[in-house]
Amino acid sequence: MGISTVSTSLFSTLKNKIEQRQARVAIIGLGYVGLPLALLYSQEKVRVTGFDIDERKIKTLATGGTYIVRIPVEEIAQAQKQGFEATSDYSRLTEMDAIIICVPTPLNEYHEPDLSYITDTAKSIAPYLRAGHLVILESTTYPGTTEEVLVPILEKGNKHGLKAARSSEDQQGFYVAFSPEREDPGNTTVARKDIPKVVGGLDTQASELSAALYGTIFNRVVPVSSPAAAEMTKLLENIYRCVNIALVNELKLLSLRMGIDIWEVIAAASTKPFGFHPFYPGPGLGGHCIPVDPFYLSWKAKEWDFHTRFIELAGEINSNMPYHVLESVVKALNQHKKALNGARILVLGVAYKRDIDDLRESPALTIIELLQKDGAQVSYNDPYFPTVGKGRKYDLQMTCAPLENLGQYDCALIVTDHSDYDYARIVKESQLVVDTRNATKGIKSDKIVHC
Ligand SMILES: NC(=O)c1ccc[n+]([C@@H]2O[C@H](COP(=O)([O-])OP(=O)(O)OC[C@H]3O[C@@H](n4cnc5c(N)ncnc54)[C@H](O)[C@@H]3O)[C@@H](O)[C@H]2O)c1
Repeated sequence: MGISTVSTSLFSTLKNKIEQRQARVAIIGLGYVGLPLALLYSQEKVRVTGFDIDERKIKTLATGGTYIVRIPVEEIAQAQKQGFEATSDYSRLTEMDAIIICVPTPLNEYHEPDLSYITDTAKSIAPYLRAGHLVILESTTYPGTTEEVLVPILEKGNKHGLKAARSSEDQQGFYVAFSPEREDPGNTTVARKDIPKVVGGLDTQASELSAALYGTIFNRVVPVSSPAAAEMTKLLENIYRCVNIALVNELKLLSLRMGIDIWEVIAAASTKPFGFHPFYPGPGLGGHCIPVDPFYLSWKAKEWDFHTRFIELAGEINSNMPYHVLESVVKALNQHKKALNGARILVLGVAYKRDIDDLRESPALTIIELLQKDGAQVSYNDPYFPTVGKGRKYDLQMTCAPLENLGQYDCALIVTDHSDYDYARIVKESQLVVDTRNATKGIKSDKIVHC
């Protein structure tokens, strides 16, 4: 049998398997991205195996449990009926046809990309790679990561000396692509399958296979010419948000000084049927993406002797917002002839955005730390977090305070506008309310201070 027959058959065998929904899919990293993705494949009757190094997650799933609030146990049970299981045993990758990587990509303490989760994962995959495997990276990262970081580790670490296919002439290697994740936690207006999926393969075979694989769960796949183009697409999307949020945050600060209601202005501008997309000010950026991802690009840009000034400026404005909140609380208390030192403050909402159970990079944590540093006695309430313990950057060790006897606090500070809260009651029962989200819109009271 000639090489080309062998390779054509590797490609077409996998393509056929994918199209027949017979391909076995591995998802590495069962977090906020990986677990929902695994469930989506299971819903479409594709057999998925999840891989994670967190034994607690494996155990929870094995016992039919869930660790993401918005994913009910019934969904896990349904997926298990379709063969979904979770393991930490990488040797089981030999059973798989496609491997999708959804591991974290945070920043290190110097605000630089921390690719250690990707490199560790690649080192764990490499020994089990075989010809014809399809490997797709989904973790958000700078352009070049797939080709310059992932592929060399996979090529170096596999036992058979396999190479990634870089053109359709390469017919005996493995296939590699990048496809960014576009999930918007808490957003119930767009079904996950209706969010178009961008894919960029290292060669046309990888693009075609990835498009087929995602085509089983997404209604539209958008192929781009390379992994780097797909990596840059994700960063453009997030930088666009980051810069526009910084713009409205800056305009909010000016509007407060000028006595103009920025929320009213944004609502009015939003009536323009073209050329305007609303973004909203807040207490600072949160979540795994917007405060982190832009700095992946600014770091990489330096290699090209290029300074990404929009990203730096937006970062400066957005990261200053928690300090603005602190100042606003100080001023509001001052109006009541009180000092922050010793004041009892109730922070309402610690999740980084409304109605989700995600604390990562939440501005609430920075705000709590700033308030405590200045001597305030801080409590918090959040229906999604009975406790706040130790995170990557903080160690608060706090327990959720009940939403009662609000008059005991000198100030209720609305940081996250969860829809469960009864804001009219909160205003009625509190001595003073500082609102960072316009959650008290429409409530008339001189106790409310917008910030
Ligand atoms: N959360 C979002 O809304 C979102 C949206 C778009 C993109 N992303 C990107 O997706 C990626 C994953 O984000 P997430 O929110 O799912 O993170 P997460 O922290 O919720 O989950 C990551 C999972 O990977 C596991 N993991 C870490 N190292 C591993 C290894 N070597 N082998 C196996 N498992 C390992 C962790 O235990 C964890 O369960 C990140 O790059 C993020 O920027 C996230």
